[in-house]
Amino acid sequence: MNRVYIKTYGCQMNERDSEAVAAMLRARGYVIVDTERTADVVLLNTCSVRDQAEQKAIGKALNLAARKRKAPDFVVGVMGCMAQNRGTDLLDRLPDLDLLVGTQKFHQVPDHLDHIMATLRGQGPRPSTIVDLEAEAGSQNTIRDHLDHGHDNGAGARQVTAFISIMQGCNMACTFCIVPKTRGEERSRPIDDIVAEAEQLAARGVRDVTLLGQIVTSYGRREFPFVDGRSPFVQLLERVHAIPGIARIRFTSPHPRGFKDDLVQAFRDLPKLCPNVHLPLQSGSDRILRLMNRPYTRDRYLEIIESLRRAVPEMYFSTDIIVGFPGETEEDFEQTRDIFERVGFDMAYIFKYSVRSGTPAAEMAGAVSTEIKERRNQVLLDLLHIQSLMRNLQLVGRTVEVLVEGPDKVGRRLSGRTAGNRLVHFAGDVRLVGELIDVKIERASAASLVGEVV
Ligand code: 5AD
Repeated sequence: MNRVYIKTYGCQMNERDSEAVAAMLRARGYVIVDTERTADVVLLNTCSVRDQAEQKAIGKALNLAARKRKAPDFVVGVMGCMAQNRGTDLLDRLPDLDLLVGTQKFHQVPDHLDHIMATLRGQGPRPSTIVDLEAEAGSQNTIRDHLDHGHDNGAGARQVTAFISIMQGCNMACTFCIVPKTRGEERSRPIDDIVAEAEQLAARGVRDVTLLGQIVTSYGRREFPFVDGRSPFVQLLERVHAIPGIARIRFTSPHPRGFKDDLVQAFRDLPKLCPNVHLPLQSGSDRILRLMNRPYTRDRYLEIIESLRRAVPEMYFSTDIIVGFPGETEEDFEQTRDIFERVGFDMAYIFKYSVRSGTPAAEMAGAVSTEIKERRNQVLLDLLHIQSLMRNLQLVGRTVEVLVEGPDKVGRRLSGRTAGNRLVHFAGDVRLVGELIDVKIERASAASLVGEVV
């Protein structure tokens, strides 16, 4: 009666929240399983950023509700962004939910489940849906527990990469975006807590950490002072950089507005900071950027890219783009296509604009048809394929440093990543997991590289 399956929708922050919930539940004696079939409890950790993500989770929840009608002891909960966004309105369609938990209450899940489980054992009446959606001061400090993967998969394949949540919330006001509503105000964790967490992960064998937040460049802006012209975020990078076991540091997502000289300088000065920056662009048209309330121009964006390339010539860039924002004309899209090609993004998440009720853009005129969105989406995907392939082909014949992560999906080879975050497959012994090794690249596709250990 204590097997829990957590299904996660959406971004890395959601992945990290789910992992923290799983770790807290395991510490309470629950067993985390990796299929919904064998679970007594299914928790959906949801995403609201586009309608499609919400519809998927609702479909899944309806499905689970049907299973629950046949097996009344089965427990179903909805957590995270959609719970926060839709609140108790969700119960109109999902009256049988046991649990509805918002983005600042993940740490309460063990208590709530304990309570439900006790009632299933006959200790008291079973509650109707437990609803926990309030804001909570200090909740950013509660996403800190990690699953011990080494302990999970036994096979000596230790965990090599980890996410660390450094802040929660977003104070930007992009007109398309629901995240300020679902994640609340920006709140940062203390540097010392984050460093302690990174040290613990390093002690467990983690070599590559990704610092996470909705707007990481806003880290500590209100809480902590600048020191010698360096922002709290850059100070944090320096502290994590000083941890001996950590070999690679990444972060996501920054905001172009937060990309100042101190951060560019950090890429020059901190060798563990990986040459791979995810910098959401959203649109290449100044007119659309203004309508989106994104406080930069295409020229400023290109300037940031240039300064980073000057600091680290082999820098890899990825981005987020929205096509079909209200009023986006062919000329606007052409500006996006142009900058997409100029920067030569190596990776990108390209989204078709999705109306989010309650956001300013939802009230804007000039809806773009699905067909046009599809077409613009495809144009960028085709470009991305070519750019990604060209960049990977440049590595053929060269020897690159790879951090070995584990057996690849097929299980016959190992896989790992370059500092620039390119996926590499190669033959090798599992004892290499966690090591930085040299691999000579022999073949390339847009998605990955194949090589031989040197
Ligand atoms: N429609 C489509 N994409 C969106 N994003 C955020 N809101 C929307 C929306 N309403 C995208 C942005 C953001 C990423 C996480 O999701 O590109 O950077």
